Amino acid sequence: NLNGGAVFFIFGATGDLAKRKLFPAIFSLYRERKIGEKFAVIGLARRPKTNEQFRDDVYRSIQEFARYKKIDDVEWTAFAEHFTYMSLDINNLEGFRQLNELTQQVEARFNIAGNRLFYLALAPEHFGTVAEHLKAGGLLETDGWHRLVIEKPFGYDQHSAAVLNEEITSVFKEDEIYRIDHYLGKEMVQNIEVLRFSNALFEPLWNNKYIANVQITMSETVGVEERGAYYEKSGALRDMVQNHMLQMLTMIAMEPPSRLHPEAIRDEKVKVLRSLRRFQSREDVLKHVVRGQYTAGTKDGKAMPAYREEPGVNPASVTDTFFAAKLYVDNFRWAGVPFYIRTGKRLATKSTEVVIEFKNVPERMYFAEKNRLEPNLLVIRVNPMEGIYFKMNAKNPESNNDGQPEVIPVAVDFCQSCRVGYNTPEAYERLLYDAVRGDSTYFTRWDEVSLAWQFIDRIAEAWNEDSSDLTYYPAGSWGPEESHQLLARDGFKWWPVQ
Ligand code: BG6
Repeated sequence: NLNGGAVFFIFGATGDLAKRKLFPAIFSLYRERKIGEKFAVIGLARRPKTNEQFRDDVYRSIQEFARYKKIDDVEWTAFAEHFTYMSLDINNLEGFRQLNELTQQVEARFNIAGNRLFYLALAPEHFGTVAEHLKAGGLLETDGWHRLVIEKPFGYDQHSAAVLNEEITSVFKEDEIYRIDHYLGKEMVQNIEVLRFSNALFEPLWNNKYIANVQITMSETVGVEERGAYYEKSGALRDMVQNHMLQMLTMIAMEPPSRLHPEAIRDEKVKVLRSLRRFQSREDVLKHVVRGQYTAGTKDGKAMPAYREEPGVNPASVTDTFFAAKLYVDNFRWAGVPFYIRTGKRLATKSTEVVIEFKNVPERMYFAEKNRLEPNLLVIRVNPMEGIYFKMNAKNPESNNDGQPEVIPVAVDFCQSCRVGYNTPEAYERLLYDAVRGDSTYFTRWDEVSLAWQFIDRIAEAWNEDSSDLTYYPAGSWGPEESHQLLARDGFKWWPVQ
């Protein structure tokens, strides 16, 4: 499955992402025999370290974060052999030449045919330099494939993203660039496509004739932790909305692709982003968007500080830790259907869910006297629970049969994560494996990123004018009241997340 093998270069090998996600992902792929023995990992960071020290780091990261924690001595010795460390100053071209020599030795040892995957778990300001030095250092002069995997944030706005893109595309071709959005690696996000296009039940109803609104929630209980300095500049808008939320929205709204081919799928996603109605003015933004910031609060009896008291945060900060908006996808399928999206830190529950609320049947005609019918809901649970939940109406078996049955909502619940022995692959495992196989379906293409920024920039510009619209919510709550009003004005409400 990995013909010719590959070398994985991990830039930022002493960082958090490598520790929490990348090493455990590589181990799972190894354990599941997806990458065989013809692979090598070269860890790169500035700090000096021996191979032994590096391998100890990898071992600890597996113990703490991997899905498979049990590893015996024989397996560990065989796995650890594949890991090499080199201290590298990315500004020093000479270091890249040495890296190339080291790589050739490693490739010879593991019989790898020049396939090279460069994973940049680094701040984006370094992407350009690394790309340039990879080329100048001779690392791209092999017969095999070369792929660049990069992490978000991809720029700060449309302009900076375009500059960044130019830097990397002067060295790598678009089809060699794998931009990670780890939400696209999640099982249930990938399942959206399967659900929609493999069931006779949904596709005929998936439009403005039958759907009243769509709700996407990504709530987190954590605050900004140690990332205050980064988050101050990004806020929820850039941290979650520009990427994860808009990506989920495109998966829900896209047309069936002509084939299950990466470019065909991404073409459809781009069309959704093109159809997304852009805000025209500050008034327009204020009418459709709510931004909030958490104040001090309590959860389970525990006191939690305000955002402005977090380390690395300006005590007068106006950064958004909560975002809710009403969006429209202006095309034939979705005309008139509001998409409500919300995300925030320090909310009541950690949950990612999509709710499709269907239009009601003409209830006045039938069960009107005794009942207020609840609408049908299709709930796609992404995280931490995985599954699908369908709420429909049925007769209450206990109700008296006096001519008018009592109607109650009942649930059809498919809980994927409840299945015994089920151990879902981590997003990073899937994405890393996809990158190795050369499947870019669940990575974001430049035109998607660019359109998403163009949409976001309008909001950011309106917010920059002044911050009087910033609302506040206590840590541990469900966000500011204004977020509820956004739906109440249309006669809807946020359905409680499970
Ligand atoms: C990251 C954001 O992209 O996604 C974080 O930078 C956020 O702020 C995280 O906490 C959420 O991811 P997940 O997989 O834990 O829902």
